[in-house]
Amino acid sequence: MRIVSGIQPTGNLHLGNYLGAIRNWVRMQDEFTAQGHECLYFLADLHAISMPHVPADLAANTREMVAALVACGIDPERSILFNQAQVPAHAELQWLLSGTARMGWLNRMTQWKDKAGKNREGASIALFTYPVLQAADVLLYQATHVPVGEDQKQHLELARDIAQKFNNDFASDAEPVFTLPEPIIPPEAARIMSLRDGAAKMSKSDPSDMSRIDLTDGANTIMTKIKKAKTDPEPLPSEKAGLTGRPEAANLVSIYGAMAGMSVDAVLSEFGGKGFGTFKPALGELLIDRLAPINTRFIELRQDQAALDAILRKGAAMARALAIPTLEKTYRALGLVRD
Ligand code: TYM
Repeated sequence: MRIVSGIQPTGNLHLGNYLGAIRNWVRMQDEFTAQGHECLYFLADLHAISMPHVPADLAANTREMVAALVACGIDPERSILFNQAQVPAHAELQWLLSGTARMGWLNRMTQWKDKAGKNREGASIALFTYPVLQAADVLLYQATHVPVGEDQKQHLELARDIAQKFNNDFASDAEPVFTLPEPIIPPEAARIMSLRDGAAKMSKSDPSDMSRIDLTDGANTIMTKIKKAKTDPEPLPSEKAGLTGRPEAANLVSIYGAMAGMSVDAVLSEFGGKGFGTFKPALGELLIDRLAPINTRFIELRQDQAALDAILRKGAAMARALAIPTLEKTYRALGLVRD
């Protein structure tokens, strides 16, 4: 078993990242490193240059994201925590896989369609080939399990398609070059929605700060954002079926359930028949209570930039070493001479 996953260091870590992915990263670290398996978690800084960005912000956000991940429970002594830019094998393998990935496959990626919008001609090539780099990220380490939120499922399926085609075209059945990675998506809270629009996912790129809870938000900000979250005038239903057609209510209930470790049914049996005037303050309190230790630790950690850089340096050295065998195998399978 090998667990690999990444996050873009653009903006702050938000509740969607935490419930959809990072919590699972921590759980898998706790369970699998104890059994001698490796967990590699990285900051996808190479992915971040696919959209317009400010270099100084990217550098600052990269360090802040290390602090945020460690504050959430990623332990750099047990997990390998690094940024892509310090492991050139990611970009190298992306090129080697570019002969295998098909234009048609990439054209079907919903994230590409959403982010490029109507201006495809003006989108960067990196935005289009982004999923090939993501495939390289996991195939490079022979990842078996990739903990992600629902929105990354399609990219992971593409990584499997690329691995399968490469193995078919350039390797024997007895000795495949790549392992097919399995996405690990939480059964609940796999897709946390915006607080302002129940049809859009909670996202770092949403221009409205009120649309998301950042893990760096203090108690007052959390309560204000929850109280101002868009809802409807009806009280909460007593059963799950009553949430159909009420995406904002469903989202808040699912956040409550995920944070409290309760099923949606259990949340509704407690709050069914009550209005948002009661439910929202309860949700706000729950979030403040659960996020406060992360927030305190984050504020402490972010001050020591040298320590954050040291974490990345050490993680990158380990990742570079782990990447060598697969990278070499790939070059050779393609007939590229490496003396
Ligand atoms: P990114 O940075 O957008 O998000 C990081 C992780 O958080 C999850 N996530 C969510 N889960 C539930 N609800 C939401 N609203 C929500 N928003 C984000 C994402 O599913 C993801 O697991 N392309 C990736 C980064 C990446 C990667 C990889 C991931 C690069 N290479 C290799 C896995 C494996 C991305 O932009 O995630």
